[in-house]
Amino acid sequence: MAITQDIPQDNSSTKVWLITGTSSGMGRALVKSALERNDKVIATARVLEQIQDLRSLADSSRLYLMQLDITDSQDVINSKVTEAVEVWGHIDVLVNNAGTGVKMILEEGGVEGIIRQFKTNVFGVMAVTYAVLPHMRRRLSGTIVITGSRSAFANEFPSVGTYAASKAAIHALGESLATELRPFSIRVLIIQPGSFRTDCIMHPNYAQKKIKDYQEVDQKTKSFFLALNGKQPNDPARGMDIVVDVVRGEGRAADKPFPLWLALGADAVRDIRAKATRIVESLDVYQDLSVAVGYDQP
Ligand SMILES: NC(=O)c1ccc[n+]([C@@H]2O[C@H](COP(=O)([O-])OP(=O)(O)OC[C@H]3O[C@@H](n4cnc5c(N)ncnc54)[C@H](OP(=O)(O)O)[C@@H]3O)[C@@H](O)[C@H]2O)c1
Repeated sequence: MAITQDIPQDNSSTKVWLITGTSSGMGRALVKSALERNDKVIATARVLEQIQDLRSLADSSRLYLMQLDITDSQDVINSKVTEAVEVWGHIDVLVNNAGTGVKMILEEGGVEGIIRQFKTNVFGVMAVTYAVLPHMRRRLSGTIVITGSRSAFANEFPSVGTYAASKAAIHALGESLATELRPFSIRVLIIQPGSFRTDCIMHPNYAQKKIKDYQEVDQKTKSFFLALNGKQPNDPARGMDIVVDVVRGEGRAADKPFPLWLALGADAVRDIRAKATRIVESLDVYQDLSVAVGYDQP
């Protein structure tokens, strides 16, 4: 799989962005960044009232607010996306930002916990993407941004397994989308943020039951996240400004090819690099055994 996508885009024109989950954090920061470049934004949220204040950023000629819960049925999401397309006639960039960062001991959450986490971070993201794709395929143009996470690479910490798995799944789906959409000149960008100062760190715990054996580790984990809250190293405004640079092919990304993966944050770069190194080391150590299974081997 190529690390870049050499698909020509018209970066000179105003772009129309559809962004999910703009009531807070990265989504809210991205709305501001895109509007500052004079682009047009359809900002969505589960509860419309929570984004009314965004109206102070731009008038209705450049900003449209829309209610969208990404866990609604495909039919509901399709009709919302049709509404979004009708605002300015098309969508150039879909940003699948909405997500939840569940912290949960795996055994306490059970399968139900995994399903609930995947409902938003995987099924919801794909449902919105499926709704947008027919419009982009018709135009032979578009960019899909998938919000992954560094956690998919660095999940040796208790209670992030379900979240990490959901982000690993969406990374893989994003890579497959990039392959399948290339013939239609639709690009995919998978961002992998490190620790950003948003509400994500305090998202709910879906534990179905409490198991005494995990009490201590559960408590330590809670204390760790509480202590980190408000001290995360990365700035959502800076992160989303980079995303706009990359999607628009300007600013700090002006002389770079369009990537498939984009780590955001020094912590993300460190952890993804460390995991890649460990995988290569493991391949090296076991290579003779790994290749020995082929029919063509002696
Ligand atoms: N912050 C980090 O360190 C970090 C690191 C890696 C990846 N990420 C990812 O970045 C994305 C944004 O998170 P954030 O850090 O900005 O946290 P955030 O401030 O809590 O924002 C999450 C957003 O997703 C929305 N959302 C949740 N469930 C939704 C649903 N079913 N339908 C529509 N919107 C929904 C939330 O809306 P409500 O207000 O309605 O709940 C909120 O606007 C997420 O995908 C997260 O996994 C964050």
